[in-house]
Amino acid sequence: MSTTLASRASSTASRPPVTTVRVALAGCGTVGGALLDLLARHADDLTRRHALRFHVVRILARDASRPRSTAVERALLTTSVAEFLDTPADVVVEAIGGSCTADVLARGALAHGRALVTANKALLRTQGPALAAFGPRLRFEAAVGGGVPIVRLLREGLAGQGVHRVRAVLNGTTNYILSRIERGDPYAAALAAAQRAGFAEADPSRDLQGVDAADKLALLAWLAFGADPSTLEVVTEGLPRDVDAAVRGAARSGRRLRLVATAERAARGVTAHVSPALLHLDDPLAAAVDEENVIQVTSASSGTLTLRGRGAGGAATAAALLADLIHLFQPGTH
Ligand code: HSE
Repeated sequence: MSTTLASRASSTASRPPVTTVRVALAGCGTVGGALLDLLARHADDLTRRHALRFHVVRILARDASRPRSTAVERALLTTSVAEFLDTPADVVVEAIGGSCTADVLARGALAHGRALVTANKALLRTQGPALAAFGPRLRFEAAVGGGVPIVRLLREGLAGQGVHRVRAVLNGTTNYILSRIERGDPYAAALAAAQRAGFAEADPSRDLQGVDAADKLALLAWLAFGADPSTLEVVTEGLPRDVDAAVRGAARSGRRLRLVATAERAARGVTAHVSPALLHLDDPLAAAVDEENVIQVTSASSGTLTLRGRGAGGAATAAALLADLIHLFQPGTH
């Protein structure tokens, strides 16, 4: 009797043993909390499909007494970085944001021989190459594009293809604000809604002034062209002063205002800039709605690839962290 693919897939005899992965999670806000929820909700699936069981062994929080989602086991909370790093773990997930504590954590984790999965674009912009020198245990899919797997695409799918251009909407908060204004909301209300939804940075001026998009663009230029993100100059301009009027003016001329990030490799080196642009409606970047990101990557061999999806928010960012965790530890993937 022949064995069908279906019967082979359902056979337990060939399944690899389940690997338990000890996770130390730094940060228990929008993103960290969403990751805990994902791990709890998909625990069975992670075991069945990926032979992985993630066991959260420690959670670093700024304030251990703050009320949190039910997925947080209070006994695991600590506010001490030293205690956090001393807890035996296989991987540190850094979702704490900022640069100071995150830098100590990142170096501490890698120096202790742990893998590091981080969503921290500001940290990677300045420290990325130094952290990458510790080896392939550094993963950062969540740092750019939220749930859009652009890091993996550039690192793996397009490796060796001579990417020469990246053009993208990389900041969910500003895109959300522009979309809400297009639907009739005033700027202040749109910004407040973006903050409530957990899209904005702790300091929202990083979003509004284009700094967050510039950090992400520098990381894409690192992956795509090998540019050093810490020294790459990204000419940066944020949203215009009177955003409401600019959005209305764009609509009157049949266009859409978007914050566009572009990096190109030319004979003289890499150029990179972030600035508001009036886009024709048939431009793929104009299709970015609410917190979405759209990323176009152009290479000689593949032409232009376009990715579009949720670029900010707890669930999208946590999904990217989880993808990194799976790729790091799934048997047979490295
Ligand atoms: N503040 C960021 C954004 C969060 O709005 O895109 C995701 O990186």
